[in-house]
Amino acid sequence: MTRSSTLTVAAALSAAVAAAEPPALKALAPRGLLVGAAVNQRQSDGKDPGALAIVTRQFNQVTPENLLKWEAVHPEPDRFNFEPADRFVELGLRHGMFVVGHVLLWHQQTPAWVFAGEGGRKLDRETALARLKGHIQAVVGRYKGRIGGWDVVNEALDEDGTLRRTAWLEAIGEDYVEKAFEYAHAADPAAELYYNDYNLWKPAKRDAAIRLVQGLRARDLRVDGLGEQAHWGIEDPPLAAIDESLAAMRAADIRPLITELDMDVLPRDPDMWGADLSKKAKIRAATNVYPDGLPPAMQEKLARRYADVFALFLKHDVGRVTFWGVTDATSWLHDFPIPGRVNYPLLWDREGREKPAFGAVAEALKEARKR
Ligand code: XIL
Repeated sequence: MTRSSTLTVAAALSAAVAAAEPPALKALAPRGLLVGAAVNQRQSDGKDPGALAIVTRQFNQVTPENLLKWEAVHPEPDRFNFEPADRFVELGLRHGMFVVGHVLLWHQQTPAWVFAGEGGRKLDRETALARLKGHIQAVVGRYKGRIGGWDVVNEALDEDGTLRRTAWLEAIGEDYVEKAFEYAHAADPAAELYYNDYNLWKPAKRDAAIRLVQGLRARDLRVDGLGEQAHWGIEDPPLAAIDESLAAMRAADIRPLITELDMDVLPRDPDMWGADLSKKAKIRAATNVYPDGLPPAMQEKLARRYADVFALFLKHDVGRVTFWGVTDATSWLHDFPIPGRVNYPLLWDREGREKPAFGAVAEALKEARKR
């Protein structure tokens, strides 16, 4: 074969590869928008190569689904479990991704010892603050310069906008949120810091979150963004509510981030979040409506829903969109809020094939680049 024919073959081959491999979401995203996924420990341990290949090809940001939560990384007072988190952070950096830490202070997935007072007494302010500070110093300090941004406080607000009554509030008082931000900033001054919550599309809660961020900034604390988890449904929340909430954050000069996006396609029951076991069983029977696969009409509906919410994310120039999981195989929504159902919330199906929703998101990103 002559040199020129070799070149022609190579060119044809790379054209074929390019044709077979459409651009990844991270390549389609406009400048300034990170696109990412929450990865679970099997994935960051390298035991789910299929999902991992999707992550490294499609995304430029990763969040750990569980392994930096207090119970995972700091299970006992004097014992940290950093190895799984180290592997996760290395994976992200090796692939040039922006690594987010989730989460420093939450009332869930936190071991009981954190909230237990000394000698069987009630937890007091000084002990609680010392534990919080020690935890944040150790965890943020370990990943200083490597984890680029932290969810500092998660879900501190109730639906009416008041502070949720948690053990943190009880022991420390209302300034526990600012203390967490203060400790995090001291441990890594260069890291971005976020407040994260759900249902920020509801006006009362959204306004409270905005006030909370403004209050922190008024005390000269660093806050880089407000994370809306966005565990949403196929119909709910209404697009107008999402539109308004993102606009309100922008108007308050706060960068909106979409931190845990997924789309529950199953019918919702207003009671499903607080239901007891027997009620849950009933709701499961009534709402587990696609046990054998998502019908094509629903695939299309899901795709349209993703296109619609992405149009709003792009309109308001959100800083990041992180999907809460990679493929439908491992979504937490199979077991939340009702255990044992089959859900279809993400862009890839259980076999790792792109769903119509993937195409819809890719199209939305392409359109935004043309503007
Ligand atoms: C969820 C994980 O996806 C599950 O694997 C785990 O069992 C429970 O927590 N809001 C959050 C996330 O901030 O940390 C939660 O993640 C989902 C709700």
